[in-house]
Amino acid sequence: MKILSAEFVTSAVKVDQYPELRLPEIAFAGRSNVGKSSLINVLVNRKRLVKTSSTPGRTQLVNFFDINDEITFVDLPGYGYAKAPKRVVREWGPMVERYLAERRSLKGALLLIDIRRSPREDEFNLIEWFRAHGIPFRVVLTKADKFSNNKRQSNVSRIAKELGLKSSEMIVFSALSRSGREEVWQAITELIGS
Ligand code: GTP
Ligand code: MG
Repeated sequence: MKILSAEFVTSAVKVDQYPELRLPEIAFAGRSNVGKSSLINVLVNRKRLVKTSSTPGRTQLVNFFDINDEITFVDLPGYGYAKAPKRVVREWGPMVERYLAERRSLKGALLLIDIRRSPREDEFNLIEWFRAHGIPFRVVLTKADKFSNNKRQSNVSRIAKELGLKSSEMIVFSALSRSGREEVWQAITELIGS
């Protein structure tokens, strides 16, 4: 997709703060610091549309972005940041599940997992929510630049097995090298079309 415009719309905690239902929506979910904001920036060719941070847990709201006046990207708050304030930890689950349950324009989700990690309870919970609410999803393995080719492939197989998915169902991505960008766009186009 040729990016003509990419703009921040609003941040929300509650459903009544969400923008009106106008465009097909794609949500980006994953652990804090996994690279959600970085992925969005690469997809839209912008360095700082979305704030990225080496301090995990920066994105604590549901953030909406308008892409080309065609798609809405939703940067969901990251979970699993041990040092996050208790209130933030407590509110994360209900805030994200409410979004997934109630957002009728949501066409699909990308679940990001750091290629060096193993999926944990939070990832399995998200997958359960996607399935419970009939939301199609794809897995994006981030920070692929951390490994050589061989190790990358063995980690893709490992995570696929842990998730009970096929390796071919996962997209390997690096915000640093931008590899995997086209595959992620392809997945987004398919999610919106499905
Ligand atoms: P929260 O907003 O806290 O949930 O984090 P996030 O998932 O939005 O992560 P963010 O994009 O802010 O990236 C976190 C850190 O990881 C930053 O220091 C990024 O520069 C780094 N990072 C993100 N993607 C990559 C990648 O593909 N490769 C490498 N090497 N670093 C990355
Ligand atoms: Mg972020």
